[in-house]
Formats: sequence, structure tokens, C-alpha cells
Amino acid sequence: MRLRDKVAIVTGGGVGIGRAYCLALAKEGARVVVADIQDQEAGKVAAEIKRLDGEAYAVPVDVTSPEKTQAMADAAVKKYGRIDVLVNNAALYTALTKKFFMEITPEEWDRVMAVNIKGLFLCIKAVYPVMKQQKKGKIINISSGTVLGGSPYFLHYVSSKAGVIGLTRSLAREVGADNICVNAIAPGLTISGSNQEGVLTPEQREDRRKRRCFQRDQVPQDLVGTVIFLASDDSDFITGQTINVDGGALMH
Ligand SMILES: NC(=O)c1ccc[n+]([C@@H]2O[C@H](COP(=O)([O-])OP(=O)(O)OC[C@H]3O[C@@H](n4cnc5c(N)ncnc54)[C@H](O)[C@@H]3O)[C@@H](O)[C@H]2O)c1
Repeated sequence: MRLRDKVAIVTGGGVGIGRAYCLALAKEGARVVVADIQDQEAGKVAAEIKRLDGEAYAVPVDVTSPEKTQAMADAAVKKYGRIDVLVNNAALYTALTKKFFMEITPEEWDRVMAVNIKGLFLCIKAVYPVMKQQKKGKIINISSGTVLGGSPYFLHYVSSKAGVIGLTRSLAREVGADNICVNAIAPGLTISGSNQEGVLTPEQREDRRKRRCFQRDQVPQDLVGTVIFLASDDSDFITGQTINVDGGALMH
């Protein structure tokens, strides 16, 4: 087990890819704080981990709230005494519909930025004092391959995920002295459950498969190894990086 006794918070851990991160982190021995605005789903994931003899704790959080993100970090420390890993996975993604940029309202734009970029900032602010005191920490920010490829009709989402890369690079330089690693992952289009039905036609899915070196659908399990690596001591000298996990669709 590569993460024995480490404490990992996963935001948006209740469904989709975040759920897969929670299960994988627990399998490697981490005590997992499953943090989600969908608190019932978070509870189900925590219960599932416990059934598998892992350790997990569900905490409701709205990542746009300074009070609630602080409460999330406080709850993790109260329950497990430390915070080693933060996976900033929560986002508005499947909740959004693709549209021409002229149809995106300023309110929708602000909401996407509030969850997808300010949410990371607030979660990081909440865990930083604990990681600094521990003289070690791992922050893993989930960006998106849409930034690398450019993706039409999703301007708010792609802009927010580009911000994740900028945040990752700049923060890495600020907290290197605290021995905190800050890295990002850019997943390719992943069949995550909620984006499965009605979002892509069979033809579009086939087109995506053809763009990859490995010509199959990308699934959450394809991403967990990179999260485990970035959460583990094996990546202690890697920071400020964005790892593109997409089966070789894009090569940057
Ligand atoms: N699925 C893909 O193809 C893909 C590709 C690239 C990047 N990503 C990124 O991976 C992550 C997970 O993707 P997914 O497909 O599982 O998405 P999803 O939409 O199924 O899950 C998003 C999660 O974030 C949570 N969330 C939303 N708003 C929140 C808030 N205000 N506070 C707390 N939690 C909140 C949701 O409850 C949910 O658990 C997202 O950051 C997404 O942008 C996904």
C-alpha cells in the first residue's frame, strides 16, 4: 500500500470520476474524506469504502463557500488529525450544456468560475495551514484536456480549466518552500457515468476513440494511477506540472 495512514480529501468525491479516486486512494491505505455538495452520494461512497475494509468519512461541502471549505478541512483534522492530500476534483462539468459563447449569460459564466476555479482556491486556503505545519502536502488539481485541444461551445468551462493550470504553476512556486507539491491532471474525455447518456452520439464517441493511440473509451480507472502517483511519496520532486492522461490523443 502506497498511502498507508495518509489522509486524503477528494472534492466531488460522491459520483463519477471523483468516486473512483476515493475508492482507489482507500485501496492504497489512505483515510479518505469524501467531500461533495451531493452529501447523500458522498455518504454512499464512504459506506462502500468501509464495506471494503477501508477508512472513509463523508463531509458535505459547497466549494464556493469559504465557511464550508474551512469546515471541510476542520472536519478532516478533527476526524483523522492531519491532511496529506487534497484532490480538487469538484466542478461544474456534466451539469453544463454546450452552447455558442454568445448564449452563455454572465451569471452562468460567474457560476462556472465560482465552482471550477474559486472553489480550488478556497479548498487550498483551507488545507494549506495544516500541510504547512506538517511540512509536507500534495495538492492535485483536476484540469481538462479541453484546454490543450481547444473545445468549442464550452468557453466558460475550458477557460476555468485553463485557470486551473495557471493556478497550479503559480501556487507550486509559492509553496515549494513548505514542501508542498501542486500538480494538475488533464483528463481526456472520460465516460464517467453522468456524461454517458445523451451527451455524445455513438458517432462522436467513435471519433474520440479514433483520435487516441489506444483506440477505446477512456474510463475513470484510467485516471486513478496518476492520482495515486501524485499523492504518493514517489512524486515528491514533481511540482507545477500538468499530466495529460488521454490515451495519447494529444501530445504536448
Ligand atoms: N468526464 C470527463 O470527460 C472529464 C474530462 C476532463 C476533466 N474532467 C473533470 O474531472 C472532474 C470530474 O468529472 P466527472 O465527469 O466525474 O464530473 P461530474 O459532473 O459527474 O462530477 C462533478 C462532481 O463535483 C461535485 N460538485 C459540483 N459542484 C460542487 C460544489 N459547488 N461543491 C462541491 N462539489 C460540487 C458534483 O456533486 C460531482 O460530485 C471534473 O473536475 C471535470 O471537470 C472530466
